[in-house]
Amino acid sequence: MGYFEQFLYGLYPYICLTVFVMATIYRFEREPYTWQASSSQMMRKGNFSWASNVFHLGILGVAGGHVVGLLVPASAFHVLGIPDKAHQMMELFGGGPMGFATLIGLLVLTYRRLFDKRVRRTSDRGDLWIAVLLLVALVLGMATLPESWRTRESGQYLHQLSAWAQNIVLFRPSSALSHLAGVPMVYKLHMLAGMTVFLIFPFTRLVHVCSAPIGYLVQGYYQIVRPAAGRRRATAEDLAQGPGEGSVAAPASPDAQLVAPVRSAKPGETHP
Ligand code: HEM
Repeated sequence: MGYFEQFLYGLYPYICLTVFVMATIYRFEREPYTWQASSSQMMRKGNFSWASNVFHLGILGVAGGHVVGLLVPASAFHVLGIPDKAHQMMELFGGGPMGFATLIGLLVLTYRRLFDKRVRRTSDRGDLWIAVLLLVALVLGMATLPESWRTRESGQYLHQLSAWAQNIVLFRPSSALSHLAGVPMVYKLHMLAGMTVFLIFPFTRLVHVCSAPIGYLVQGYYQIVRPAAGRRRATAEDLAQGPGEGSVAAPASPDAQLVAPVRSAKPGETHP
């Protein structure tokens, strides 16, 4: 393997990882007001919702598949009774549809960004470059599928590349490089595009991934109510009983239009 390839697959991954971690922390600490998804949903809804949902669902699936497929050692799959062929099939039939969904969502979103005047005016060059880079990484990723299908019995390339990825994260670049022998160019190009996504991540709107509001999924719910005309207002007695699970307390004041939390606050917790 020549020096240039050694640089691309033995050193470039560390450059990307270092920039990814350090610049993301720097931006979070020093430029918090630029930390946003810069959603263009308000500009025009159109195809936005479904395309955005399909894109996000797909890319989460692809990311999960990459973490499990590349970073979990083959021996762990064997211990769980999952043979090499099944591992490769999981990547093909799990990752393939997820990659396809991401591609469709991203194509619609990019088309909208390029050709919808209002959305275009609020986009900067970075928005377009990140879309292009994601498209390149996705197309190259999908282009690996025929080769992975051809070698599905052994999952040969998947194993070689997961050994490469594991050695990279364990800071063993020489061992990582030794696993790349005979790997077809399409995988290598895809890896370069994928690593470059990490490299430019901190400088783009992608940073919003780090503040995904996962807490909403487990947060108790609130119900906002306005007293309907003619309905009895809560009395002081009702309020003294406090809100029960599923019940709603309305304010005693005739002027207030409030809002009652359905669950009680935990000690130290404040309701918005
Ligand atoms: C360090 C970065 C990355 C590496 C090392 C990497 C590696 C790989 C490998 C080895 C495969 C083939 C898996 C198989 O045999 O089935 C693959 C497939 C794929 N990759 Fe990546 N990838 C990276 C980043 C990305 C990124 C950022 C995206 C999305 C934008 C992406 C999208 C895909 C897709 C859609 C496929 C085909 C479906 C699948 O197997 O999941 N990859 N990638």
